[in-house]
Amino acid sequence: NNFAIIMAGGIGSRFWPISRTSHPKQFIDILGTGKTLIQQTYDRFLKVCPPENIFIATNEIYSDLVKAQLAGIQDQQILTEPVMRNTAPCIAYGCFKIQSINPDAVICVAPSDHLILDEPAFISTIERSMETAVSHNCLITLGIKPSRPDTGYGYIQYTDQTINGDFHKVKTFTEKPSLDIAKTFIQSGDFLWNAGIFIWSVNAITEAFGKYLPDINDIFVDARSVYNTETERSYIHTAYQQCTNISIDYGVMEKASNVYVLPSEFGWSDLGTWASIYQLAEKDYVGNAVIPSERVIMYDSSNCMVNVPEGKLVVLQGLHDYIVVESNNTLLICPRDQEQNVKQVVADVKQKFGTK
Ligand code: GDD
Ligand code: MG
Repeated sequence: NNFAIIMAGGIGSRFWPISRTSHPKQFIDILGTGKTLIQQTYDRFLKVCPPENIFIATNEIYSDLVKAQLAGIQDQQILTEPVMRNTAPCIAYGCFKIQSINPDAVICVAPSDHLILDEPAFISTIERSMETAVSHNCLITLGIKPSRPDTGYGYIQYTDQTINGDFHKVKTFTEKPSLDIAKTFIQSGDFLWNAGIFIWSVNAITEAFGKYLPDINDIFVDARSVYNTETERSYIHTAYQQCTNISIDYGVMEKASNVYVLPSEFGWSDLGTWASIYQLAEKDYVGNAVIPSERVIMYDSSNCMVNVPEGKLVVLQGLHDYIVVESNNTLLICPRDQEQNVKQVVADVKQKFGTK
């Protein structure tokens, strides 16, 4: 009864120019490991679910990329979206479709673009969560001990009330707080970051959609007769555009009352920024991280993050604390501490040249 929905429809604009609308970061081997992020995620779930129970939610334009990168994936396992509507609609689509396949399903919903270093710990966390989700009919999210007041995460305040060992009842769920609020959360000590990995029985989540997002609920309930038929794709193509644009965090997690968090540790990073890649990458003794390294030469340079196409000859002289990234004939050179401006750069480039 184990199912997975891997969300792979984001555009990862902070990793421009490596990550682009036409080729976002989940389809890139961003750490130089030999596998793209979505391939790593898929391989992890093969250890939790039968292969035919793994679904990929993504935009129609990435459907061929998914098929090219995940050998053996069938068309019926790709949940295609004609437009970006954030995570709630794609999760609703996947969950209602899975319900029509197996009404007793238990589903793990996970992003396609995170790094998980301790795979055995991850797998046992998911298996325990699946058991608890079924036995207690609740919504489970995985929590990570926060290390800084990052405003890019959801924050979960938990209580001492537990089920099945260490699943804590959630008191509040706050998606992407302001910096001031994030600081108070960190100080108070009873908050975790939301890892964006959810586990629930198909019953619990479809009930929650009915309660908190009735418009989205109705669209995918109405689609019941087309799931797993030849008309599914064209029907959803039209119906999906009616969905509200909202994330599962704002739409369901902030509102639901039967939410439990499992404090988890499995070497998690959401690889959200170059800083996070730099932190994880192998570095030389002066702190340079270079992917790939064969033809990059450095003189008197330190703490740089270099990511260039294979075979590119690059010379750095006297450069410290910089990001140097090249992809698709586009070169970005940016001080490491100013990378948060890249999102704006992407918007400006698009406006000026009509391309990303
Ligand atoms: N299929 C599909 N369609 N996938 C999407 C869409 C969409 O419209 N929008 C986003 N995704 C995918 C992304 O590719 C990513 O894998 C995942 O859904 C989460 O979306 P993000 O846009 O990366 O969310 P976030 O990072 O801002 O916030 C979420 O993750 C944080 C942890 O990394 C939230 O769940 C936060 O609460 C959480 O802390
Ligand atoms: Mg993310």
